[in-house]
Amino acid sequence: MCGIVGFTGHGPCTDILIESLKRLEYRGYDSAGIAVFENGSIRTAKAKGKINEGLVPLVNRGADNHFSTDFSHQTCGIGHTRWATHGEPSDINSHPIGNGRVCIVHNGIIENYREIKEFLLNAGYSFESETDTETVVKLLDYYYDGDPVEAIIKVCAEIKGAYALGILFRGFSDTIYAVKKESPLIVGKGQDGNFIASDVAAIMEYTKDYYLLEADEIAVIHPDSIAFLDKHRRPIDKELRTVDWDISAAKKGGYEHFMLKEIHEQPSVLASSMSVRIKDGLPDFSDFGLTRERINSYSRFFIVGCGSAMHAGIVGKSLLESLARVPVTVDIASEWRYADPLIDEHDLCIVISQSGETADTLAALKLAKECGADTLAVVNVVGSTIARAADMVLYMSAGPEISVCSTKAYAVQVEMMYLIAFAVTLSKGKITEEKCREYIKELQKLPELVEKLLEDKTDYQFAASNLMNAESLLYIGRGLDYALSMEGSLKLKEISYIHSESYAAGELKHGTISLITEDTPVIAVATQTALIDKTVSNIKEVKARGAKVLLITREKQIIDEKAYDIRVNLPDAEDIFMPIITCVPLQLIAYYTAVLRGTDVDMPRNLAKSVTVE
Ligand code: G6P
Repeated sequence: MCGIVGFTGHGPCTDILIESLKRLEYRGYDSAGIAVFENGSIRTAKAKGKINEGLVPLVNRGADNHFSTDFSHQTCGIGHTRWATHGEPSDINSHPIGNGRVCIVHNGIIENYREIKEFLLNAGYSFESETDTETVVKLLDYYYDGDPVEAIIKVCAEIKGAYALGILFRGFSDTIYAVKKESPLIVGKGQDGNFIASDVAAIMEYTKDYYLLEADEIAVIHPDSIAFLDKHRRPIDKELRTVDWDISAAKKGGYEHFMLKEIHEQPSVLASSMSVRIKDGLPDFSDFGLTRERINSYSRFFIVGCGSAMHAGIVGKSLLESLARVPVTVDIASEWRYADPLIDEHDLCIVISQSGETADTLAALKLAKECGADTLAVVNVVGSTIARAADMVLYMSAGPEISVCSTKAYAVQVEMMYLIAFAVTLSKGKITEEKCREYIKELQKLPELVEKLLEDKTDYQFAASNLMNAESLLYIGRGLDYALSMEGSLKLKEISYIHSESYAAGELKHGTISLITEDTPVIAVATQTALIDKTVSNIKEVKARGAKVLLITREKQIIDEKAYDIRVNLPDAEDIFMPIITCVPLQLIAYYTAVLRGTDVDMPRNLAKSVTVE
């Protein structure tokens, strides 16, 4: 939520800031802005709306406060792309926020901003924006007497909450100061200058070398040097890291949208992500210490996450309970963290998060640790906050996911659930090694089946053309199909803006069926052999009430043609493996519906990919 960047170097910074911000736009796109030094003064340009719509035209015509259109003298600056929390999306609430002496970009939330504001008002300061961030600017200004680090230390001792800050101080026109707590921040080391960014993908065009800033560490960044200090001004030695993926992974590569590209990456990431986790035909988690003995010490399992990650957890629960016969609780992180959960030192809490930064998931993880439970994070972003806070980390290795709507990350999260479920089932003695190897072999066939599904998209496009004018629709399913319905419904509503709900097919008649009128679309997922007949009965119930039924089922399944209007066929696999196959048509139906409706597929309104506020 919110992305920040900064560059100080020997050449112009303005284009670098804007290009880097575009790579962070998935974190929020309510407004964007930059601040640069020009002849010793801080100049800002900021505007409501997406970068290309607001900021870029503004910069090109020179912002109102004399932001020069000659970028050659601008070599040090900071930038921000915003997902609004305090204060509506507007020019005035946009970052950077400054007063001529101090200027900052902020990702996070200052919880005690009201008290600080009160204090500053009494000290004679006035405020223009509705943001919590402005209190930090004014507090820095209050403490700043020519020593930026001193001012930062004093401010950090007073502010509470989550933050990553990039700061410019007048008088230090080649220097960016950075500090963080909770919100992520990396410091990039380049050839012709140095960077800050909310994630490394933002600056990969320029450098692959970076440092991870930890809580309460201050970075002082010059064009040729970077110094790290702790809150007592003691220097810190930090490990220089190198990103191990290629910049092409963060580009569209000929696809119209990142979402489509990421859907297409699924066969290869599914194959590569599992390959590093399988040894001698069995799941292997020994590198992070999840041994058979450790698994056997757990009596209960908890799975927590948000959005698609939680939906992957529902699949995980079903697999763990049906195969390993262990009790599993799955919950939404924002609920679980306040529910006083019954978790203790005999339990394992699995948190799932693509970004590794989701505030509620992080809080859930911390709560599990406080209760004495062991914690395992299933995370995509290496070195993310959740990854660093967990006892054990299972990296998904799905590569960067840029589209706000999760596709390949969800598929790989589900894949990781299989590997965990098989490992637990084997450890608990519920299957032999031979059976486990068979399961793994079946899992290894999935990338090819997914590849097959992607060959011909006419069915999904046809389905989308039937949905595009709907005002509201329902997804239904039973068991694992219900879990997939939830994910399908979330995909569709978040990018097409059509109201959609998912319902357990058998529960529909207890209220929701009253929503069905002539031509209400109902998308029915029916892949689970033991439940198909039951679901078909439910489909007939809605069909009899005028619904237009889109059935997603196995190719081989014989189903009365009168029960549906449109049918999307899936290749065959064992029941438990159908989720990874089923998710692909659901993603593509949502994608094509959104494209037909002309929405901004990769950056749907009001959303952000990395949700660092609760
Ligand atoms: C946001 C994204 C979703 C994602 C959820 C959890 O809402 O838009 O796609 O599933 O956060 O994110 P995480 O990074 O924790 O998996």
